[in-house]
Amino acid sequence: MAQTRRAELEALSRAVQAVTQQRSVRDVLQMVVSSACELIGARYGALGIPDENGQFAEFYAVGISDEEWARIGPLPRTHGLLGAMLREARPQRIPDVRSDPRFHWWPAAHPVLTDFLGVPIVDDEVVVGAIYLANTVDQHGFSDDDEALLVLLAGHAAVALANARLNERSRELTLVEERTRLARDLHDAVSQKLFSLRLTADAAAALIMTDAERAATELAAVRRLAREASAELRAVLAELRPPALSEDGLVAALHKHVETLRHAHRVALTLDATTSCAVPSDVEDTIFRVAQEALHNALRHADPKMIIVRLETCGDTVVLEVRDDGRGFDTTAESGAVRRLGLASMRERAERLGGTLVVSSEANAGTVVRIEVPLRPGTLR
Ligand SMILES: Nc1ncnc2c1ncn2[C@@H]1O[C@H](COP(=O)(O)OP(=O)(O)OP(=O)(O)O)[C@@H](O)[C@H]1O
Ligand SMILES: [Mg+2]
Repeated sequence: MAQTRRAELEALSRAVQAVTQQRSVRDVLQMVVSSACELIGARYGALGIPDENGQFAEFYAVGISDEEWARIGPLPRTHGLLGAMLREARPQRIPDVRSDPRFHWWPAAHPVLTDFLGVPIVDDEVVVGAIYLANTVDQHGFSDDDEALLVLLAGHAAVALANARLNERSRELTLVEERTRLARDLHDAVSQKLFSLRLTADAAAALIMTDAERAATELAAVRRLAREASAELRAVLAELRPPALSEDGLVAALHKHVETLRHAHRVALTLDATTSCAVPSDVEDTIFRVAQEALHNALRHADPKMIIVRLETCGDTVVLEVRDDGRGFDTTAESGAVRRLGLASMRERAERLGGTLVVSSEANAGTVVRIEVPLRPGTLR
């Protein structure tokens, strides 16, 4: 008895930890259903988040393998029994699904469900999803205690979902704010300068045949305005540096970025970063952007188990390497209709600073992106 109690507490504590450690929502929800199955002793479990069209936007299941899912077919809709707790916002406990009037059918490959317990996930009086359990392992049906425990776990799922929504919202707001500020700065500084520049150039063009001297004065003004516009553009762009980069420098910014990605993705991501000498800010910018894009590519395209990021300054160069063990790709293939902005912009950034970018990749053996930038221009090779 003491043993089971302890196992129960451990499972509960894992679920609570997952929520408080701010793992990805997906991890937390998956953890909540599997803890529910384990704690309550159910053969099948699922957690569904409905969308507005009577479908499930997300559905996490326990007890059914990927192959079984493939055979079952599309995700269930939120009708019938699965929708009952979404509409009525209260738990539903049923001794046998098949004899419930709300049950219609399931696909041929669907496991046969008997006893059933469904609980809504409620956030601030709004039903945001539901947890379902079916087929008690001891075949005695779900008890009052089971229901109370599932309600408790549904509360954790609600907190995890609410946190995720808040994070998402605050990211969106930050982006919108950034954009608005940038548009305003660009307008105030640069677009007004460019407008005067155009007028002055027009004046110079009109004068050039009749009064070369005044035309030359206007052209001198054109040159001054162009210089000022580009200085202001540079100033606006400097502000666009990721805040972490200007505040903490390259190594710390990389650590932060990697940490954020670790929370969001299931992949072993390691960073080994040292710099033994000062790195100019334009080099820091380039290295950071390349790291971002290379990591983004590895996560998006490679499906890797592992990504290793290495940053080193040796002698007069900075070297960054992002290595994944994912599916790899043909680096020589013509881009054709494929959009390859990321690789092109990494290369362009490296070359602008007199550096090099090398991408080596092999099918099913992973990819290495390596950028090397001289710390003093002209020192590389
Ligand atoms: N680490 C990687 N593993 C596997 N394939 C990759 C990797 N990096 C790039 N690729 C392949 O190379 C292609 C081009 O990458 P690139 O970054 O230029 O474009 P993208 O990521 O598709 O789009 P974006 O312009 O948004 O970056 C990708 O579409 C992908 O097929
Ligand atoms: Mg890309």
